[in-house]
Amino acid sequence: MSTDIVWHQHATNKASRGAQKNQTPRVLWLTGLSGSGKSTIANLLEQKLVAQGKHTYLLDGDNVRHGLCGDLGFSDKDRVENIRRISEVAKLFVDSGTLVITAFISPFKADRDYCREILDESEFVEIFIDTPLEVCEARDPKGLYKKARSGDIPHFTGIDSEYQAPVNPEITVNFQDEDAVATAERLYALLVEKGLV
Ligand code: ADX
Repeated sequence: MSTDIVWHQHATNKASRGAQKNQTPRVLWLTGLSGSGKSTIANLLEQKLVAQGKHTYLLDGDNVRHGLCGDLGFSDKDRVENIRRISEVAKLFVDSGTLVITAFISPFKADRDYCREILDESEFVEIFIDTPLEVCEARDPKGLYKKARSGDIPHFTGIDSEYQAPVNPEITVNFQDEDAVATAERLYALLVEKGLV
């Protein structure tokens, strides 16, 4: 970054934008393996929040990789850059007063911590979608585990690329036995109980 650029403080700010929307902006950061159900739960959670009158935006891994991060692959270096860009975008959305939901594997602890660090206190809510690898692999909604096992997709998370589970997430949601709707309801109730939405 050039040292000759200065942050411009605009008159309309995060607090006023949030107040206008009647909400405290935050990032609800879903992390978990491929096939853990992040996108499904994020989608249901967003519907629930919108029905409650919240102003939201959902940043989803598969979608963001079509555009903003379309130049990135799945090497460790590219995943770090993927999450760095998402974190910066999420921060801008928070500044706009929005409740952001993200659904990325985000396998590395340091990258999730980066997003926490660039946001203000209590704006980053780490939500671990805790679905065991065996369950994700049995679901295999896109047939990617099968391809990864046969060597067609290198560096696949959980197979030959590391997933660092959150150490101390704000919320852990096991998504294994209940259906997606019930799981999303459970997550929403936890967010309300903790005063996070
Ligand atoms: S992250 O690791 O950089 O956070 P991201 O969430 O954006 O990943 O994208 C993950 C999605 O990309 C998976 O759900 C899957 O559909 C697809 N994908 C393709 N190749 C891989 C791979 N090698 N590892 C994991 N996911 C992959």
